[in-house]
Amino acid sequence: MNLTRVPGLLYGGDWNPEQWSEEVWAEDVKLMAEAGVNLVTVGVFSWARLQPDAHSWDFGWLDRLLDLVHAHGIAVDLATATASPPAWLVRAHPELLPVTADGVRLEFGSRQHYCPSSTAYRAAAVRLTRALATRYRDHPALVLWHVHNEYGDHVEECFCPASAEDFRRWLRERHGTVEELNRSWGTAFWSQRYNSFDQVEPPRAAPGPVNPTQVLDWRRFCSDALLALHRAEKAVLDEISPGVPVTTNFMSMFKALDYWEWSRHEDFVSDDAYPDPADPRAHVNAAMNYDLMRSLKAGRPWLLMEQAPSAVSWRPVNVPKRPGLYRLWSLQALARGADGVLHFQWRASVAGAEKFHSAMLPHRGTAGRGWRETVTLGAELRRLGEVAGSRMRGRAAVLLDWDSWWALELEDHPSARMRWLDLLRPWYAALYERGVTVDFLPPGGDLADYPVVLAPNLYLLDTATADRLDAYVRGGGHLVCGPFSGVTDRHDHIHPGGQPGPLRELLGVVVDEPWPIPDGETTALDLDGVGLRAVRWSEWIEADSAAETIVRYTSGPLGNRPAVTRRRHGDGTAWYLSCHLDAADTGRILDLPLVEAGVEAELPGLPEGVEATRRRAADGTAYLFLLNHGTLERHVALDRPGTDLLTGTDLLTGTAAGTGLTLAPLGVAVFRIPPTEERA
Ligand code: GAL
Ligand code: ZN
Repeated sequence: MNLTRVPGLLYGGDWNPEQWSEEVWAEDVKLMAEAGVNLVTVGVFSWARLQPDAHSWDFGWLDRLLDLVHAHGIAVDLATATASPPAWLVRAHPELLPVTADGVRLEFGSRQHYCPSSTAYRAAAVRLTRALATRYRDHPALVLWHVHNEYGDHVEECFCPASAEDFRRWLRERHGTVEELNRSWGTAFWSQRYNSFDQVEPPRAAPGPVNPTQVLDWRRFCSDALLALHRAEKAVLDEISPGVPVTTNFMSMFKALDYWEWSRHEDFVSDDAYPDPADPRAHVNAAMNYDLMRSLKAGRPWLLMEQAPSAVSWRPVNVPKRPGLYRLWSLQALARGADGVLHFQWRASVAGAEKFHSAMLPHRGTAGRGWRETVTLGAELRRLGEVAGSRMRGRAAVLLDWDSWWALELEDHPSARMRWLDLLRPWYAALYERGVTVDFLPPGGDLADYPVVLAPNLYLLDTATADRLDAYVRGGGHLVCGPFSGVTDRHDHIHPGGQPGPLRELLGVVVDEPWPIPDGETTALDLDGVGLRAVRWSEWIEADSAAETIVRYTSGPLGNRPAVTRRRHGDGTAWYLSCHLDAADTGRILDLPLVEAGVEAELPGLPEGVEATRRRAADGTAYLFLLNHGTLERHVALDRPGTDLLTGTDLLTGTAAGTGLTLAPLGVAVFRIPPTEERA
């Protein structure tokens, strides 16, 4: 089953036709057909065109446009157009403009200029959504609703009086009484006690560090405030246009929004991804983000809603994608569970802030490399159509908790260098290098099916989650827990008795004192004669008799003390890694629990630089994606016979000459393995 009523994989992009005359539209749809485009996202920033002033609507152009694309067999992902409120609305309600923590009201003239808690903005957005839904719910081109655009992009928080009032309402709901808020925020310290909710304000610019729980509650509130806005639009669409799926485009691993919570309100997940062509390791990060997108809906296919065919225009230096990279990175999203590849944007703008951003149809038109690549990719996606609906599943699980992420990065911690993404990346990279695919799980997720669960950091951890981890290990699971975990509870209060708090017994260790490592320095470690180096973070830990020391610190004040421990518990093991290591050293340690748990690579023996993933269809057919991210030609031996869908070639198994396949630099193969062979 596909995400929308469109068969096969989805291909297309944001089409912003309000920039062009209708003659250009006519040319556009012809070229779309030539490129194999089957889905366009229309109207993302069309509010001012749809509603020219407070008293009029103009749908005529959109009627003609939808009829035109439909006549060319192209389906529409219709946007609710609410991300950029028009000037007339802003001037009538200047209070809807967002305010920064310093009290600066952000002006009209860009986009995303709205306060999430503004009633005027919300009413106008809901009204526009209702008008669009009512008019187009039965249009035959409509297959998908695209709510708003990238919630939290540019503006993720607003400190205006309306937001302050909304925050107080949220706090009342969460805490009930002001006494409870005082307790939760620890306001006894620094004389921060409140007598009533009316005295509470958002964490605006203040003389020194703001109360950490206040900031943590603020982060929770900001994610919820934008989600409330999203749900208001979604409710209108569900009511008026039931049966048409609804999505909003996420921004990969984005700190400000708790996507576990958000994705519960999506019919499917879609993502915008802009890996940097100048970064030779960008594909590793991209893989990580795609794994999260797939995991948000427990493995269901997702949609790459936006990517750039070549360069973007918002980095200081915008490097284009060299030949082959666009194709490789597009197919990488499919390899990790996407059912389509869409772009920003269809036709390159000649005016406005993004006129230097690449597009499927570049300024040069159909003459150059860009257009050729657009057409070629469209044709290849058609060849891969049967992949749609199949699912990928990771072999290990990684825990990700937004609450903990927010709390970890609050101010005045032992080290400002402990950032979630910096902690996660070496763990992910180590698994990626080993060809071990992963799914992300929320702390309350179902761990049972994963032989290994990795928690690179769980700074904020409640006892219920700790109990579940304990049960997982007792039942035979292998848990690896990273440093500075089990530190605080949901109020960001320290768990007494020493870190890792509620995990102390399970891990068999207690932290006497965290020992951050100054920038530029390292601490030496020993793993069975192999020297490793910790950076940024180490801990003075004491292991109890149940925990074995696997790695020791060998230099500095922690010399000869335990650094990595393993405790056997029930049928499983619980590992504690007390320091921060680079990807290579993290991998040397992760190898131990991976081997113990019997976790293997998706395709063992892969040459360096080649990524392998497997999607499975309901009938048991497997699709093995092989992607060569390297600069050298690589030969891959195959253990099952099957067909490369891109070339139509039947491939033979074995390692002799003429068997397996050779991947050119940036080359890709998508190998169909019939159910009979796959089960063998
Ligand atoms: C996205 C945004 C698009 C476009 C694109 C450029 O963040 O949703 O509208 O601005 O970036 O890369
Ligand atoms: Zn506001």
